[in-house]
Amino acid sequence: MDNAPRTGLIGLGTMGAALALNIAEKGYPIAVYNRTASVTDDFVFGAGDLSARLTPAKSFEELVHAIRPPRTIILMVPAGEIVDQQIAALSPLLGEGDLIIDAGNANYADTERRATASRDQPWDFMGIGVSGGEEGARHGPSIMAGGDAAQWDRMGGMLEAISAKYEGEPCAALMGPGGAGHFVKMVHNGIEYADMQMIAEAYALMRDGMSRDTDRIAETFETWNRGPLASFLIEVSGIVARAQDPISGGPMLDAILDAAGQKGTGRWTVIEAQKLAVAVPVIEAAVVGRNLSARVEDRAKGAETFGALPQSLPDGALDTDTLEAALIAGKILCYAQGFEMLARASSEFGWDLPMAVIARIWREGCIIRSDMLNDMATAFETAPDGNLIFAAPFTGLLREHEAALRQTVIAATGSGIAVPALSAGLSWFDTMRSPRGPANMIQAQRDFFGAHGFKRLDGKDSPHGPWGEDGAQH
Ligand code: 6PG
Repeated sequence: MDNAPRTGLIGLGTMGAALALNIAEKGYPIAVYNRTASVTDDFVFGAGDLSARLTPAKSFEELVHAIRPPRTIILMVPAGEIVDQQIAALSPLLGEGDLIIDAGNANYADTERRATASRDQPWDFMGIGVSGGEEGARHGPSIMAGGDAAQWDRMGGMLEAISAKYEGEPCAALMGPGGAGHFVKMVHNGIEYADMQMIAEAYALMRDGMSRDTDRIAETFETWNRGPLASFLIEVSGIVARAQDPISGGPMLDAILDAAGQKGTGRWTVIEAQKLAVAVPVIEAAVVGRNLSARVEDRAKGAETFGALPQSLPDGALDTDTLEAALIAGKILCYAQGFEMLARASSEFGWDLPMAVIARIWREGCIIRSDMLNDMATAFETAPDGNLIFAAPFTGLLREHEAALRQTVIAATGSGIAVPALSAGLSWFDTMRSPRGPANMIQAQRDFFGAHGFKRLDGKDSPHGPWGEDGAQH
């Protein structure tokens, strides 16, 4: 019985199967279950040397029986109701000390609810965010755990063992209680959407504005991946731009419909940002960009009615060095917003999120991994409560690259090339540098029609303006 697994995993889809193999490979025997029994058998049979560490189970009873208490059961099933159904089915079979871990992309509010409900049960519950796609799950994801110190003491060793390593440092850590891990994962995905959108905008500028073919575009991404933008997503962009379509023989990118899918984590980020009254306009623009991309027929109608865009950029309006600099600035602005959202959630929910640790565990394994995150980690070590735009080296980089971002947005706008994320970043930055904004006009309007009052610049007492009879002045 000593070699009997202490861990089980439910859901052998792409991510679940990869994670189970990763766990087994790191020396943890594991019992596995999938709703379709043949999938379980095929998985164990196909696991080669690792199959000796895998115990197939055909029912929840068999799964629970195969695991030595105290048991840990990892759910790798689609987020939402299915998670509740699986917990309800497991609950009567589990006892004191057993632990259910939801490692899917759950909404953090669901994780909070499930963690609270588990307090009435003999078993325990944790929600962890796992990033890195199939490759990450198999060979080392970034892991954002939600839970208490005792749960981390129990699970931290295994989570660190299966996680990605950045220069030997595990990319797994405890974020905070309850839904904190899934909240951090959600913001990771929001940043992922924004990073991808800004890269897509740079692609549009090269393809439509500068009439570059996909090979030249690939070459540019490859060059950028050797500089300050070095990251998984820039690398992927180079690879997909190089790929040839086996069906048409032309560039793969040219054969793909320009309508982006989404499963909702980016949208959740925007919704939660609004609830927290924190500004994440680059992420918002990315979500809106995906929504609009899906309106294929309306876009065709718009082109027919108003004339098709985009047009090419005038000669010399933009070069790839300027575009690279614009992307560097856009990326810093986007991360500054994402981290600010984490800081706001941390104080609002009393989570005490470890900002530097978050940047550190995003350096490897996850989709937004990049060289720049190393400097972000250092910046948060020095000033955990500060905004990245005020931290070295980012202040200097923004000073250096702001003009390129502005030049890019102006050039794009002039030719009708939509760059919603880059321009949202720039507008946020411009606003953050304007000591005197236009909101005095809004305050006057509000006071006029609703007697909402305002503060005076000179500090004198004047609860309302001199709006007269027609206004709402009292
Ligand atoms: C990750 C990814 C992963 C996945 C998202 C993408 O961190 O590994 O974020 O979670 O790519 O599901 O979501 P969309 O389908 O919404 O793009």
